Amino acid sequence: MRSQSIPCSTPLAGGTDLNPRVRALIDGVRDGFSLDQPFYTDPELFALDLEKVWRRNWIYVCMGCQIPNPGDYITYQLGTDRIIVIRGDDGVVRAMANVCTHRGSIICTEHAGNARALVCPYHAWVYGRDGELRAARMMPADFDRSRHGLAQVRCEMIAGFVFVAFSDHAPDLATWRAEFEPHLAAYQTDRLKVAVSKTYDCNANWKLLAENFRECYHCHSGHPEYIRAIIGSGMHEPREKADAETRRAQDAWKAQGVGNDSVDYDDANGDWHYSARYPFAPGFRTMSEDGARVAPLLGRLPSEDVGTYSIVMYPNLWMDCPPDHLMTMRVTPRAADRCEVRFDWFVRDDAREGVDYDPAKVSWFWTVTGEQDVRLCEDNQAGVASPRYRPGPYAPAEGGPRHVIQWYLRQLVRP
Ligand code: FES
Ligand SMILES: [Fe+2]
Repeated sequence: MRSQSIPCSTPLAGGTDLNPRVRALIDGVRDGFSLDQPFYTDPELFALDLEKVWRRNWIYVCMGCQIPNPGDYITYQLGTDRIIVIRGDDGVVRAMANVCTHRGSIICTEHAGNARALVCPYHAWVYGRDGELRAARMMPADFDRSRHGLAQVRCEMIAGFVFVAFSDHAPDLATWRAEFEPHLAAYQTDRLKVAVSKTYDCNANWKLLAENFRECYHCHSGHPEYIRAIIGSGMHEPREKADAETRRAQDAWKAQGVGNDSVDYDDANGDWHYSARYPFAPGFRTMSEDGARVAPLLGRLPSEDVGTYSIVMYPNLWMDCPPDHLMTMRVTPRAADRCEVRFDWFVRDDAREGVDYDPAKVSWFWTVTGEQDVRLCEDNQAGVASPRYRPGPYAPAEGGPRHVIQWYLRQLVRP
């Protein structure tokens, strides 16, 4: 499996367009230490994050099964940019501006729904599900509707995951597709349905979540339920014992034709994704309260003994896929000290609620763990915002967040 990493010591050249204050802040970052306070609290830095990171990378918005029928849509907002992601009559999922081409009103005011046509609430211009302007009341006879369709936004669906790009700068998704589509195929993540959705307002900078979800140094004290389920995650048992159990699990996967699927891809363009397959502790078959399966086996998996397959795609998608369900975590920045965290749980599309699965059981594990993380990140933000905060050293077990910071700084200085 490919593993390509840029050393943390990569010089942060470039960024000549940055103002001197920001450039000085970047130059002042010490490798191996958390960032200075303004990176987590300052509105100017937050605006830069949106421009340099969020608008230049692919952003996960939903699974295709959340908008299964023609006309099903969700809306999504990044900063002040608003889009509609809608399935067309031809079954294709498209993204387009949620801004009327007449005088600019928002068109869809709900978070999600189904629309026969997109009708602007202001003067009732009517757009098709493909974004073409179909009708504009009382406009002159020579008004050219074909020139007033909704602006299209780059949108791709891979293995059921729907991504959008808010600018033309986002790198090609071909690498992501090549790395993950084969591994996701056995799970048939394009044939799922939503079991549960939960959204949290988290009073923390998005980078604190990105750092938090790349280390398990905090798991021993912060996640008693998680460390019971995942071998080695508590870092309290002897390393050799955890390694031996992991190797045993990997051998069992290999015998079934299932790989470790470990990827740590980080290229000079700023494209970064990560995946790993983690083994469950004895007695655990999935991420559930008692370790027992909570839904039918996904897709074409050879057995339930396949651990949990996890993908991180920066800046906003984290997913865990045990053998019987998929959990996605979507992070959206809202302000320097605030973000939205949305968790969705999916089961196979033919599973029957109340018969094959209980939504409360499906969502139990990551509700407990996710809420712990939200709280940890909020406490982290509160301390980071204090005048007494100083950047602190990452522990050896925190290579993940250290890497997050290096990736983030490279995003800020790239042309
Ligand atoms: S602003 Fe949409 S129809 Fe006027
Ligand atoms: Fe955590």
